Amino acid sequence: MTVARRKFDAVIVGAGGGGMRAALQLSEAGLKVAVLSKVFPTRSHTVAAQGGIAAALGNVTEDNWHWHMYDTVKGSDYLGDQDAIEFMCRQASEVVYELEHYGMPFDRLENGKIYQRPFGGQSQNFGGAQATRSCAVADRTGHAMLHTLYQRNVRANTQFFVEWMGLDLIRDEHGDVLGVSALDIETGEVMILQARATLFATGGGARIFSASTNAFINTGDGLAMAARAGVPLQDMEFWQFHPTGVYGVGILISEAVRGEGGYLLNKDGERFMERYAPHAKDLASRDVVSRAMTTEIKEGRGCGRDADHLLLKLDHLGGNVIKARLPGIREIAIKFAHADPVQEPIPVVPTAHYMMGGIPTNFHGQVVAPYKTGPEEVVQGFYAVGECACVSVHGANRLGTNSLLDILVFGRAAGNQIIEDLKRNTHHKHLPGDAADKALARLARLDSRKDGENVAQVGDMLRKTMQAHCGVFRFADLLKQGVDKISEVAERVKNTEIRDKSRVFNTARVEALELDNLVEVALATMVSAQARKESRGAHARDDFPHRDDDKWLKHTLYFSEDRRLDYKPVRLKPLTVESFPPKARTY
Ligand code: FUM
Repeated sequence: MTVARRKFDAVIVGAGGGGMRAALQLSEAGLKVAVLSKVFPTRSHTVAAQGGIAAALGNVTEDNWHWHMYDTVKGSDYLGDQDAIEFMCRQASEVVYELEHYGMPFDRLENGKIYQRPFGGQSQNFGGAQATRSCAVADRTGHAMLHTLYQRNVRANTQFFVEWMGLDLIRDEHGDVLGVSALDIETGEVMILQARATLFATGGGARIFSASTNAFINTGDGLAMAARAGVPLQDMEFWQFHPTGVYGVGILISEAVRGEGGYLLNKDGERFMERYAPHAKDLASRDVVSRAMTTEIKEGRGCGRDADHLLLKLDHLGGNVIKARLPGIREIAIKFAHADPVQEPIPVVPTAHYMMGGIPTNFHGQVVAPYKTGPEEVVQGFYAVGECACVSVHGANRLGTNSLLDILVFGRAAGNQIIEDLKRNTHHKHLPGDAADKALARLARLDSRKDGENVAQVGDMLRKTMQAHCGVFRFADLLKQGVDKISEVAERVKNTEIRDKSRVFNTARVEALELDNLVEVALATMVSAQARKESRGAHARDDFPHRDDDKWLKHTLYFSEDRRLDYKPVRLKPLTVESFPPKARTY
């Protein structure tokens, strides 16, 4: 099969906030940029980000970037790299004002400044008052951000490939990255998109769990493409369970609800977070709140007939505040929980939300991997930003609203790095003759396979296994069985079959390809989680209930080829300020 080829200066896979922020930087610098997206850009999963963007603007309470840095290091349970965290928190105000000038319709305070609300894990060091740091557009901040960045990209002539799926990363014999093979979902054709710089901004993969706040498109495509091409995945054991997914449905109910003054209740009507986090209460960091909720349910204080969820109360905020500040969550609660929060609480349960691990990068967005010069050698031509990347600013637990900040800061930084790198790399490198072979082989298998495994059934087994064996609390025997079960799923995935072999907009084919990606993410997660014998951030083991800095203050690296693990040190030294040494983490 001959495969068409197109050349760009830069190819970006993923049109969420990170991809579009990077694309903007590049297109405005006059580079020829292609952005591929499985969905129309403004439907990327960033659209679901609700509560805000963290930045120490100090519009409501006293605040500064150094406190934000401290909160982020503490929130990460000291696994975050402090150089990258300083880089992010120092630039936060600038990227938010930049976005404001692009036309982002932030909510406003009486004095006209950007509206900010409190969020979980933000400091309480200021005479007891909590820093109010999350810059918001009601509870639709991600939605507003995507539209702002999309419009700006159209103005800058970024070329969008809408409803295209990246298939595989193309590397040459030196390991340099030369572009991607991709599927045009509308026609079923495969194309090579050759580039001097390839940036992944493919988002997360929490669709490996049955209960997830993530969109169906979040299947870890970028991670799997990287892993299949020999790039390790970092810290994959750390998955954030958001405390408030709608019970039975999973859709996110923003932490903004608790930021505005809502709180959680158990079946006795008790505000139980006061017992677990006496200072921050419902605004402790997410790992702490999700564990508290799971404990309440486990100990029989859950609500409802099956005592399997908790209640989020916000009616006391009053109809006006709810309608003005939280209109989106009101709509979600009415539609999906049949509860109008103006009158009654919303049934909620911790739900898989965010992947702290990902493709290892430095804070310039360059992908790094162990090679001759050490554990962090730059992979030439390859960049990653946003949830698919592990910079690592979130370490073992991300703070709410640091993800929208992450995509702005590192999207821009990666754009700047690419502009510099392309000044040196002026020509496209030679493309190997077999550049598309891996992708074509997977498609050929799906085309020829008869009597194979059913994609939906195998996917279901994958999700149920992850949910049961690698959840909020983790147990040695369940993890061990989990590795075996996911390995079994991986064997079944090799034999999947699609009945509909047609080419045009064949979503069965896309789902089969996505399952290939999900299983890479699930394997990396389970293997890494079984190996880490401590509790840190979102990784809470029943048999090792404490953090162990002597043995485990290090990043995990998972290699797909032989399911091998390696480790590398955490970067404890910030860029200019003193390090925050690990200490007990309380809220
Ligand atoms: O709760 C939320 O609004 C989610 C924000 C985030 O994940 O950063």
